[in-house]
Amino acid sequence: MASRGNWNSKVGFILAASGSAVGLGNIWRFPYTTGKNGGALFVLVYLISVIVIALPVLLAEVSLGRFSGKNPVGAFKELRPKGGWKYLGYLGVITGVMILSYYAVIAGWTVGYFVKAVTGKFNQLDSAASAQIFGGFVSDWKLQLLLLAIFIFLTVYVVSKGVSGGIERFSMILMPMLFGILILLLIRSVTLPNAAAGLEFYLKPNFDALTPKVILEAMGQAFFSLSLGMGTMITYGSYVSKGENLPSATGWIAFFDTFIAVMAGFIIFPAIFSVGMDPAGGPGLVFNILPVIFSKIPGGIIFGPLFFALLSIAALTSTISLLEVPVAYFIDEKKWHRRTAAYIVGFVTLLFGVPSALSQGGLEWFSKLPYVNMSFLDLWDLIWGNLSLSIGAFFVAIFVGWIWKSSNALMEITKGTENFKFAFFWMIAVKFISPALILVILLSKIL
Ligand code: TRP
Repeated sequence: MASRGNWNSKVGFILAASGSAVGLGNIWRFPYTTGKNGGALFVLVYLISVIVIALPVLLAEVSLGRFSGKNPVGAFKELRPKGGWKYLGYLGVITGVMILSYYAVIAGWTVGYFVKAVTGKFNQLDSAASAQIFGGFVSDWKLQLLLLAIFIFLTVYVVSKGVSGGIERFSMILMPMLFGILILLLIRSVTLPNAAAGLEFYLKPNFDALTPKVILEAMGQAFFSLSLGMGTMITYGSYVSKGENLPSATGWIAFFDTFIAVMAGFIIFPAIFSVGMDPAGGPGLVFNILPVIFSKIPGGIIFGPLFFALLSIAALTSTISLLEVPVAYFIDEKKWHRRTAAYIVGFVTLLFGVPSALSQGGLEWFSKLPYVNMSFLDLWDLIWGNLSLSIGAFFVAIFVGWIWKSSNALMEITKGTENFKFAFFWMIAVKFISPALILVILLSKIL
């Protein structure tokens, strides 16, 4: 174990896992997916999904990771050497590469916007000017490729240095600072003229809008935001020491993550309605509106750059956790050196990222794929960031609940704590509720 690395403390694990969970999923993906799916009803379904479906899976993944001390492929192999379970691990390894490939494109936007903010490009901006800047930015394909490459390199660099050294230290300072700026933005946004319309959109559910698509996307968002369904939390759990209280740690992680996403919505929607933008604007939504908010804040010239810097780092602590899964696989199972694994997987990811980087206007064909009628980035996000994670989470729940068995998992979970009040609920959730709901939701969308 020692040679694989360990977190230095309980707080270390909570911070690193929250660092993985909190990222663009909260501040970029949650608001735009909420906007696309009609607002408040989506938020409600999302919150229910987090508690009923995702949180039990989170505890399942972390306990499986700590018990086996392995990457996802190794964990399934160790517990069930025969049968197809190891393929679930492989699916996670591939999904990690694929999510990282487009996630790093958006992370590149945060770096680009940091530079724009520092150089004063966002002074006194209205929404039309902001949209123009965004449009020009994302269709500049050379710049997009450069930013993608930079971000993947940063991720590779940190991962090549190893787990506890790099990841924990980042998360420690970053989270409270990001939180502080978010509060500031929130106060400004909800006091803008016509903010009430945005709050209504965000908080007052319209139950007529309930469709299988809304439910699937809300559930997918819950998995995405908590970094579930591809073995990230199995891998991170493998670095947790036995004395730690897993139920309380996972509860905090889910709480932080959800809180920050909900805050992001309170920032984005009042501002969107205040300037009369379309909440269903897609992946560019947040990048279109944030500069406008900053130009309406006293000191925005300072807070703007600071915010985009912090968001870049929040994205980095997430991309690290995406890359860590395939890297841990090659280290454990193929005996590669950490450095070699990080650089090779990083290079492959970069290649897969190219179409996404060109898909927001850089190259016509990738921006609106024939047949599916969406951009490559949207398609990749749907396949890997939603469907694959849902399938992965389903099988993890089945594996922990029925194959490894929830009673064995509970023995692992209660190693760091005598009283796990929700033990019974968790057992029911992981064996029945979670997998049944995931299956029904997936099928209802397909059929
Ligand atoms: N949860 C992160 C976010 O919200 C993204 C992320 C990191 C992720 N690791 C993951 C998503 C594993 C799915 C699976 O930004």
